Parts: sequence; structure tokens; C-alpha cells
Amino acid sequence: MKRKLISLLTVAALMIAMLTGCSSKNEVGAEQLADKKVGVCIYQFNDNFMTLFRNELQNYLVSKGFSEENITIVDGANNQDTQTAQIQEFIDNKVDVLIVNLVNSSSAGTITDLVAGAGIPLVYINREPGPAEEQRWADKNMNVCYVGCDARQSGTYQGEIISDIGKNKVDLNKDGKVQYIMIEGDPENIDAQYRTKYSIKALQDAGINVQCLDDQIGNWDMDAAKQLVAESLAAHPQTEVVFCNNDAMALGALESIKAAGRTVGTDIYLVGCDALAEAVDDVIAGTMTGTVFNDHITQSHSAGDAAINYVAGIGNDHYIGCNYVKVTKDNAKKILDSVK
Ligand code: BGC
Repeated sequence: MKRKLISLLTVAALMIAMLTGCSSKNEVGAEQLADKKVGVCIYQFNDNFMTLFRNELQNYLVSKGFSEENITIVDGANNQDTQTAQIQEFIDNKVDVLIVNLVNSSSAGTITDLVAGAGIPLVYINREPGPAEEQRWADKNMNVCYVGCDARQSGTYQGEIISDIGKNKVDLNKDGKVQYIMIEGDPENIDAQYRTKYSIKALQDAGINVQCLDDQIGNWDMDAAKQLVAESLAAHPQTEVVFCNNDAMALGALESIKAAGRTVGTDIYLVGCDALAEAVDDVIAGTMTGTVFNDHITQSHSAGDAAINYVAGIGNDHYIGCNYVKVTKDNAKKILDSVK
């Protein structure tokens, strides 16, 4: 009797799987996706890191069975009102799923209610809405999730790249303190806040005394950082370390470091984050002390998988994480090969 019941249940499960066309997570058939529409909102196309992310995401969605003409990716031009209007248009066009890289993380609540209210599942990427908002999705059982890394880890790795060199080597002027300047991304962005805080905390945790000579907002932008670091180095020639919240800004900083006649690894240290190919080339050449790999490949694939699960009626965890990787001369070549 018991065996008969088990085989009946097995047959029923198989039939359900055949009818829905999916047997388990990530085995959604390409034919199920071909006519599904996905809207992707990027905070700004003019951002090197998000461009890598966006291209990888598009290729991945196509490789999984979405047709290219059903994937629409729009540029928020770093303006939340523009992005909110784009999201409204996607809702009006009845997309099956939305993937959103917010302009302002603080708009997450409004955007979530707009999208979920229209019955469309939502995958946030890159800019984390925050724990309270994520708890709300869980409490209300919403089809909303976030895919990204914990920026505290990237900040910690940035600091460790410097502390691993050794206090005595980094303290170039031997005054018992490490003098640094910090170039931040968008200050309302949690990645910028955490990288700024945790990079310095890692130095302190390693028993290093620090002195902040300057802390400026470069808004993730190479040219802005170049200008800021030029001014900062002129005002504070005793700078020993330049921390940048991302590689685009570190690349800008490097130009000003060179223009000031300074040499990374000899009389100054420079750390970025993201592992843009140009920055990893600099790590290999020794013109950048290190960076942190912000794994856009894993993140874009996880975001694509989450979108596919929603489309197939399978839920997702509300937080889908990913690890950062510390990049120094030792592993830079390996990281470069994996991103190329
Ligand atoms: C990246 C930056 C990027 C920013 C955009 C961060 O995670 O490190 O390079 O500009 O996201 O939000």
C-alpha cells in the first residue's frame, strides 16, 4: 500500500514537471523564455564596471533562451526620476521581470512597491537596498530579491592589501602613522560607505595607526578622482596611501600620482576595487598596489538565474550573495585571465 502511494506520488511529480516544463531550479527550458520580456535598468551607462556587468548579463540572458529583442536595457543617466519613469514604462509594457541597478538605493522602497504592486517580479543588482527593505520583502512574501556582494568584505580586503605589506614599509616617513587620502564613490551608496569605513578598520585591526589627510567624493568617476588626487597630493605631499572606492577612480588617481612625480610601490601606495582589466594590468606592472575583484560575472549570472526562476514561477532567496577576491601581484594574472 505504502509502495503504491510512493509510486503514485512519483508519477504525479513527473507529470507536474513535464507540464510546467521544469524539473528543478536552473533547468528552465529555453523555449519557455523565448517570448518572455525582461527590462533592465542600469543607473548609468557611463560607468566602466556597470558596463562589464550589463554586457555579461545580456549575453547570459540570451544564452539561457531569452531572445535579444525581448531584452531591453535602459540608461538611467544617474537620475532617479529618469529611472523611475523608465520603470513605469516597463510596467506599462507588461514586462515579465525587471532587473534594476538603482540610481539611489534610498528609492528602493518606492520602486519595490511600484513594481510589486503591478505583479512583476524584481531583481535588484549592485546597489543594495538595505537590510530593513530586504526584511520587508521576506515579511510580505514579495517576489523581490537582491544580488550582490557584501561591500564590507571589499573594504576589509583593501585595508589588508596595505597592512599585509607591513607597517614599517607603508609608514614611509616613519612617524608611527600611516597617512592616507580617501576617494569615495557616491556617498549615499552603501558600497562607498562600507569601503571607506572597512578599509581603514582593517588597518587599525592590524595595529596600524592612521591619519586621514583628506576624504573627497569622486562619485565613482575617473576624471573627478584625477582632479581630486592632484589637488590632494599638492596639499598633502606626506600622503602614503591613496584609497579609492573603485578602480575607475584609482586609474584617475594613478595619473595624478605619476604627474606629481611619485612612484607607486616606492614612495606611495594605491588601492582600488572592481578588478577592471586596466587596473589589474597596473597591479601586474606594480603601478597599482592592489585591487579587489568585484565578480560581475558571477553576479550577472546569478541575477539572470534569479530572473529566470521568477519567470518560471520558482521563488528566490531574498539575498543572493557573492564573494569578493583580494587582488595583488601574486594572483593578478589569474584574475585577469578569468575576466578576459
Ligand atoms: C562598483 C563601482 C561602480 C558602482 C556603481 C560599485 O560596486 O565598485 O565601480 O561604479 O558600483 O554603483
